[in-house]
Amino acid sequence: MADHAPAPALSGRSDQAYGRMPHGRHRLLKHALNLDDIQRLANPRLPHAVYGYVANGVEAGVARDHNRTSFQGWRMVTRVLRDVSERSQATTLFGRRYAAPFGIAPMGAAAVVAYDADNRMARAARAADIPFVLSANSITPMEELAANNPDAWFASYQSPEPDKVERMIERVAAAGIKVYVITVDVPVGSNREDDRRAGYSMPLRPTPRLTWDGLTHPGWLAGTALRTLLKRGVPEISNLEARGGVNLFSREVAGIAGHSDFTWRAVEHIRRLWKGPLVIKGLLSREDAKIARESGADGIVVSNHGGRQLDAAVSPLEVLPEIKAESRDMAVMIDSGFRRGTDVLKALALGADFVLVGRPFLFASALAGQAGVEHAISLLSKEIDIDLALLGLTQASDAGPDLLRRA
Ligand SMILES: Cc1cc2nc3c(=O)[nH]c(=O)nc-3n(C[C@H](O)[C@H](O)[C@H](O)COP(=O)(O)O)c2cc1C
Repeated sequence: MADHAPAPALSGRSDQAYGRMPHGRHRLLKHALNLDDIQRLANPRLPHAVYGYVANGVEAGVARDHNRTSFQGWRMVTRVLRDVSERSQATTLFGRRYAAPFGIAPMGAAAVVAYDADNRMARAARAADIPFVLSANSITPMEELAANNPDAWFASYQSPEPDKVERMIERVAAAGIKVYVITVDVPVGSNREDDRRAGYSMPLRPTPRLTWDGLTHPGWLAGTALRTLLKRGVPEISNLEARGGVNLFSREVAGIAGHSDFTWRAVEHIRRLWKGPLVIKGLLSREDAKIARESGADGIVVSNHGGRQLDAAVSPLEVLPEIKAESRDMAVMIDSGFRRGTDVLKALALGADFVLVGRPFLFASALAGQAGVEHAISLLSKEIDIDLALLGLTQASDAGPDLLRRA
């Protein structure tokens, strides 16, 4: 059974719904007034290495921090005395109407952070009627996940070998996945110095330091690590290829996500085989956006992977307008550092059709399972709703460049 309180309505005249607070063992959530609070509250509940795996950027953390700073480069012009009593943030993407202009980004190894995190995030997304993207680097088989959320998207990290591509497309289609995302910004694993310092590695190695880290966080040890082992067995990364999982403790798991020989050729091959919407995730260049369009993609995610790949990367927000100009009828999505309703509305005003949010939803799973994720979704949605009214807008899709001024 779902372990959650009902989620507030996401659109319409919803001021009343936001007063609802979680109950029972999720009382902690009442202290979470925004997405940063969720991360702050999750921090002491997670082993240092596990918290860091989610929170860290790469090398010096410059790209991750710059993602947040770049929102401060824009201020917003309010409009007043318009009737904003009925508001909607419903957004149509690939012919489907979602309740909000944001969804849950793919995050690998989520089940290491919180028990059954993929399924819990997926069920929360379904309850709130927003998209959930399953990572290839996840422990939950896509077939099981799709049973919990029949509208789920899937983000692949896969071999470009033609026969493997064919088998993978067959598997994803048979699982009932709706949108095929190809993550393209991980040709190699990045230089995660902070993870190494904290002892987080793939394969997972129970070093004395990591063991102590786990023992001093008994809630996580019992509620996530031991519960996973008891109920689900030794975790395996189960969606990288069409067949066969890779044990998290085995040597094979090192560097599995990176396929440095994966090129546009493989994208074209996937495009020929995959009948549904195809999305390229991890672009920062307008030239690449053009190639994506010419390769038949239906959408792109402008992303620097939450500042987890190249530490000198531009922020997605900075390059959004030039990429939008190249995108024509492709859906333009964006992620990396979105934490506030105004962040989402700034991106929509700069031409994005949709936003993905990562870390806060995984921290919310660690804090309170599905109820935590539903709470996080409703917090962001509530902010968007208030911001729409303050900006004099009734529809999120009406946000345009006239709202923005350079700070
Ligand atoms: C713990 C973690 C694991 C991730 N794993 C993947 C992945 O497997 N595939 C992928 O496309 N992106 C992955 N990402 C990147 C996210 O999809 C997304 O681009 C990023 O988290 C957005 O930034 P935000 O966390 O600041 O919202 C991961 C991010 C985190 C935090």
